[in-house]
Amino acid sequence: MKIDLTTATDSDLKVEFMKEGELKQYSSYKIVKKSGFNAEQDSITFLHESALLLCGIENDESDNIRSVVSNAIKAIKDTNYKSASFPVTKKNISAIVEGIILGGYEFNNYKSKPKKSKLKNISLVCEDIMALQSAFEEAIIVAEATAYTRDIVNMTPEDLNPPSFADLAKKLAKENGLECTILGEKKLAKEKMNSMLAVGRASRHDSKLIHLCYKPANAKKIISLVGKGLTYDSGGLSLKPATSMVTMKMDKAGACAVLGMIKAVSELKLDVEVNVFIGAVENMIGGDAYKPDDVLTSRSGKTIEVRNTDAEGRLVLADVLDYAQDKVEADYLFDFATLTGACMVALGQYTTGVMGHSNRLKHSLYKSANNSGELLAPLPFNKHLKKQLKSNIADISNISSKPYGGAITAGLFLDNFIKEENKERWIHFDIAGSAYTETPWDCNVYGGTGAGVRVISDFIKNINA
Ligand code: BES
Ligand code: ZN
Ligand code: ZN
Repeated sequence: MKIDLTTATDSDLKVEFMKEGELKQYSSYKIVKKSGFNAEQDSITFLHESALLLCGIENDESDNIRSVVSNAIKAIKDTNYKSASFPVTKKNISAIVEGIILGGYEFNNYKSKPKKSKLKNISLVCEDIMALQSAFEEAIIVAEATAYTRDIVNMTPEDLNPPSFADLAKKLAKENGLECTILGEKKLAKEKMNSMLAVGRASRHDSKLIHLCYKPANAKKIISLVGKGLTYDSGGLSLKPATSMVTMKMDKAGACAVLGMIKAVSELKLDVEVNVFIGAVENMIGGDAYKPDDVLTSRSGKTIEVRNTDAEGRLVLADVLDYAQDKVEADYLFDFATLTGACMVALGQYTTGVMGHSNRLKHSLYKSANNSGELLAPLPFNKHLKKQLKSNIADISNISSKPYGGAITAGLFLDNFIKEENKERWIHFDIAGSAYTETPWDCNVYGGTGAGVRVISDFIKNINA
């Protein structure tokens, strides 16, 4: 599907936005009324004789536009129209591009006979191309990077395992001119990353640490992005119940998101150095599996009592965060992880949990969330929850002693591996709910959502401002 920015079009179908109050003045009001269309937010109706598609919006806000465009594009793809046009303005162009690319996203790699849509051309019609061109190009890059993240989240655990993840990262590095370093298990052992290594020990795949770097000549700031890359989380010996195990291919979504972010930033050619660190590991069972009762010595030297092998993401991140801080002195250190079911219980499925010590940094992230249409919400640390991670035999336990506040105690666990000088630079994003969906919402369809990519692309765009 090709998307163009233009001032005039002769497309087969014209899309129009309409608010409830505007309906009565509409020329074909009587016909429209018969269709049952009342311009309610997210409702759409075709007027095939006039080659029109009406889209109901509550107001002009980007969130509403993105949401209804997502419905519109899906409906158009099911018709025989070959081209369609949308009216765009500077204010809504990224929402419309996101609606089209992400709302219309399909993942058909595993279908033997994928349904082919007739829709080939989309025109975005504006008054002044020059005024919108850069916003248009940026929106396409960010939406495509989000779709890229979805594509890899949606890959099966058989196809995307730690070694093939490393190959995929190498490919992205080659295409986008990034530096790429991969550490296999021998090198991880030399680095004393025993916490990460323990998680992957029962897997038939070699664990991999992936480091990518986008280094523009005149970078003013440096950001490190760390991703949880559990290509499969069976729970390990603390095995997940059968129904919870389904969808656990998405436990690599944090890693897929940071790849999408570096793809976007390198294509936007932003003046910010971006380092991506991924711990790609598979959490399996077997005679060689790590066990509840084990004590692991992490790269930082801190010892960890394993009380549940399903709390594995934090064990991988503990070592990768420590490595990332030694390798790069960054201004910002963010990690992305499908870390806890508790985050979903706390915030619902749509919102990413944000944890960290710097309120200033969190506030600038909320601004980016507003700009991008992603949902972020704070989960505050406190000293009482911190105590719940105490271990009787090691420095720290990998699970909380109490059943409440699980998203925050996971964040506090990670905090133990953040060096003093980086405390104010670090933010942990729990994307357990937001990274994957089995029911469509906003511009998200079944599968990976690409959570994180849009909000962080916006944040990095504004870093130097
Ligand atoms: N990958 C899961 C978290 C998860 C659950 C992500 C559901 C997405 C959807 C993580 O490794 C995990 O299993 N966490 C445990 C932690 C517990 C053992 C303290 C959980 O959330 O139950
Ligand atoms: Zn787990
Ligand atoms: Zn996990």
